Amino acid sequence: MVLPEESRKADYDSLEIQYLKGVKYLFENGIEHVPKKYILPASDRPNFVNERSHGADNFNLELPIIDFAELQGPNRSEVLNSLASACENYGFFQLLNHGIPYEITSNMVDVSKRFFELPFSEREKYMSADMGSPVRYGTSYNQTNDDVFCWRDFLKLVCHPLPDALPHWPSSPLDFRKLAVSYAKEVKFLFLMLVDAILESLGLMNKKNKTEENDEDEDKNKEEDEDEDEEILKEFEDGSQLMVLNCYPPCPQPDLTLGMPPHSDYGFLTLLLQDEVKGLQIQHKENWVTVKPIPGSFVVNVGDHLEIFSNGRFKSVLHKVLVNPMDYRISVASLHCLPFKSIVQPCPKLVSETNPRHYMDTNFASFIEYLKSRDSTKENFLHSRKLTS
Ligand code: OGA
Ligand code: NI
Repeated sequence: MVLPEESRKADYDSLEIQYLKGVKYLFENGIEHVPKKYILPASDRPNFVNERSHGADNFNLELPIIDFAELQGPNRSEVLNSLASACENYGFFQLLNHGIPYEITSNMVDVSKRFFELPFSEREKYMSADMGSPVRYGTSYNQTNDDVFCWRDFLKLVCHPLPDALPHWPSSPLDFRKLAVSYAKEVKFLFLMLVDAILESLGLMNKKNKTEENDEDEDKNKEEDEDEDEEILKEFEDGSQLMVLNCYPPCPQPDLTLGMPPHSDYGFLTLLLQDEVKGLQIQHKENWVTVKPIPGSFVVNVGDHLEIFSNGRFKSVLHKVLVNPMDYRISVASLHCLPFKSIVQPCPKLVSETNPRHYMDTNFASFIEYLKSRDSTKENFLHSRKLTS
């Protein structure tokens, strides 16, 4: 005979196992109410009104727009100023005319959708508790630590070095690898072009611009600087890239839960591709504002590493994802960092007596430790890297 106490525990355990199958599974099984496991405390729910937010959660925000084509033309210096101001004041911008053919971005969204439409038995093959796995299917935000689960399923793909990772990527749908690889390569190239622009907007790229009048010493210093700048770019070429395919199924009670909790992105830059369904909100001037999707564009945001590298000038901003009762939403985030072993620190040229270093050195290992050790939604990783004196 099973005692009531034990039977309750068994029920609870079987529910927990059920939840690890993800929210798409729940939705497809006709769930009408959000289970307790997904219900946030009132103050963390969408549309929570406090005296600071003035209930302005539903503002639509037009993010600053950076025209990538214009960045390559005669107006580069003006666009670089807009880029710097977007990274300082919003931590986010929309990138238009980025040069990646529409077919490649729309195929990526489409094949992501088709992956999540596969039977659960197929998706399940990629489930793994190992954070270092080259492919990982899962649910929520950080499913081993989350007290409250989020309304999201995901597939994480390590993209570097590609020849090592690729054989582990899903082989179904049949065209998955082909489409995801061509997308990953294009995004990496775009990222490197953006880094070049961002370093220049921070006043760090000394482009070759020698004139007859430059004396020899000046030339020599310039050459050394150029070498250093080239070094940073080279390091990024060998940097890590992680693609996260996010699936947010319709949610019967979207006011009680979130697709992703408030977080900032670890890494240098994130390039986010999304379908036409809105959901992303960013924190701006103490309000949560919804980003209006522009089809075919990228939402780009400053990550923790860029905030550290810029010694606090550029901001890694909190963002979260709302869900809705009607539509599936798909997004593909491409997160770019320096190589795992690299030390991330404020760029020495951006530290001075009047602007001392604001962050301690960090690396990937300390981030993994941090993820394992605490509930990452409660305290932000970047905060733990700040120097207080
Ligand atoms: C992320 C993220 C936002 C979205 O993957 O880090 O913030 O809209 N995604 O899916
Ligand atoms: Ni994010």
